Amino acid sequence: MSRITITIYPWGRKIRARKGENLLDILRRANIYIESYCGGAGTCGKCKVRVLNGDSLSEVTEEERRLLGNDELRSGQRLSCKAKVFSDMALYVPYEFVNHYPYTKKEKFNIKSNLIPAVKSFRLKLSPPTIDDPKSDMERICESLSSLYGVRVSRVDPICLVDAPVVIRKYNWDVEICVWMEEEIIAVRPPFGKGLYGLAIDIGTTQLGMYIVDLKCGEIVSSGSILNPQVRFGEDLITRLNYIVKKGKKGLFEMNRVLVEGLNGLIDRLVKEANISRSEIMDVVAVGNTLMHHVFFKINPQSLAISPFVPHICFPFNIKARELDLQVADTAYVHSVPLKAGFVGSDTISSITAVLPDLKDKPKLIIDIGTNGEIVYGTEERLLCASCATGPAFEGGNISHGMRARLGAIEKVKIERDTLNVTYGVIGGCKPEGICGSGIIDAVSQLFQAGLLDRSGRFIEERPCERLRKKGEFLEFVIAWGYETKDGKDITITQKDIRNVQLAKAALYAGAKILIERFGGGKPEKVFVAGSFGTHIDLLNAYLLGMFPIVGLDDIIPKGNLAGFGALVALLDRSMRNEAEKFAKKVKYVELSASSDFRREFFDALYIPHAKDTFL
Ligand code: FES
Repeated sequence: MSRITITIYPWGRKIRARKGENLLDILRRANIYIESYCGGAGTCGKCKVRVLNGDSLSEVTEEERRLLGNDELRSGQRLSCKAKVFSDMALYVPYEFVNHYPYTKKEKFNIKSNLIPAVKSFRLKLSPPTIDDPKSDMERICESLSSLYGVRVSRVDPICLVDAPVVIRKYNWDVEICVWMEEEIIAVRPPFGKGLYGLAIDIGTTQLGMYIVDLKCGEIVSSGSILNPQVRFGEDLITRLNYIVKKGKKGLFEMNRVLVEGLNGLIDRLVKEANISRSEIMDVVAVGNTLMHHVFFKINPQSLAISPFVPHICFPFNIKARELDLQVADTAYVHSVPLKAGFVGSDTISSITAVLPDLKDKPKLIIDIGTNGEIVYGTEERLLCASCATGPAFEGGNISHGMRARLGAIEKVKIERDTLNVTYGVIGGCKPEGICGSGIIDAVSQLFQAGLLDRSGRFIEERPCERLRKKGEFLEFVIAWGYETKDGKDITITQKDIRNVQLAKAALYAGAKILIERFGGGKPEKVFVAGSFGTHIDLLNAYLLGMFPIVGLDDIIPKGNLAGFGALVALLDRSMRNEAEKFAKKVKYVELSASSDFRREFFDALYIPHAKDTFL
């Protein structure tokens, strides 16, 4: 097939492509991370590019006519997922549509845990071999470990044998030995100057979170997060899964490579911040939802795409970091926390272990809201879990002016009840470009509280308000006027956006209600809201919208990144890995889609706050 050249501005980069190749595929291959919420289905309109010269693109499609409109088409804009290229051309990628990977420092917190890590270091002062004592170096080390520390290792990672003979002799038989699980020698190091660190990884659909912890004292030395670079393959799990199903093994490896590159970039940043070396990271615990877990460990996730949507593997395992191309110590292991079900991954199990002390006595509800909602209910003795298809609305997906929570996103909205004046807060304090999940929840809840929405979620047309207007057949509400926004266009909430928020909150509420009923009724003593979303939403607005079961507002507690916290606990106290395994077996998975009760509760919960309950 003949090749063509595409020049991409504002960088002026030239890339080669095959004639007839899809433009979004070309840009992804060139590591230009264009936003593509729908993964190329032609429904989100986020993958815009502007053609500067070259008229040899495929015909404008129906989707492009619908999502771009005449003005944008006339100015040369195309949806990259729908356009194919047939000859040399130049195009401009608007900066606001390129995925940025802002680094966010994670909150510092003290972690209360036993300090019994899987990797420990032992100082040995060995006697050198003689004619009368000609034992091998390793025999000498094993004997000393056993006699001095009671540690009986059964194997040595051969990689550490490359340097060990030199190190032992250079430091006059005074060395530090790192041992994994009291079974395997994974490093022979100089007796001083080297740290011993663990890395906790939380692979979220949208965010990659990491913590580096000192395994000698339990202190977190650095932590941060970035956007999961896989978003270039689609915002939600289903879109990414479909990509792998369509492309097969090649798609899995491509998705894995992008993920591991992102993780290595973040490791690089965190080790610099902590002023340590990658080779001092001697243990890793990774958690994630089932698809992210499978992709990270290069396990083909095809079984997740076919009913009954089971994972390929659930039990915990350990694998060398080098097998995964993870840039930490070559001999370090990565521990995989067990999974429960197709849509209840090791992140949920990890969250359970993170709150174990709170699960005594009265039942608690754990809600993790992301592109999917995972819920767990019960006590240490008995736990139920489920996954609810909340869709991407809470992350800004499926919302006409939705965007991720980044610079320029409206994150807070207030509507005065009397005057219907709108005030909003924007991330970074700049001109707004769109509205993110917390802003959308605020907006819908505030519209309801201001009397502009009825309980079924329909706009009340009769309420006089200049911001409420008709666009085509449907009503929409203007949050920000064009003169206030970055691109000069109004930012609105449409009737369809409100419907998508209702669908998401109803799925979450109904799921929680079913788990509570199956447990035997009553109500949770506390609701723990996990994830960064829980930290950023206005809990009162979310509560009045009907996202949570009825408990006192003070009993709804944002808990931060519980999954990452659970991974940290498993690094510091290796017995928690056994606890995770125990709870993965113990927690009972409830399949909501098969339940007629769920459908009943779901339809009731579409109302604001719910069909039966009202707070106002
Ligand atoms: Fe192109 Fe969504 S419309 S990726």
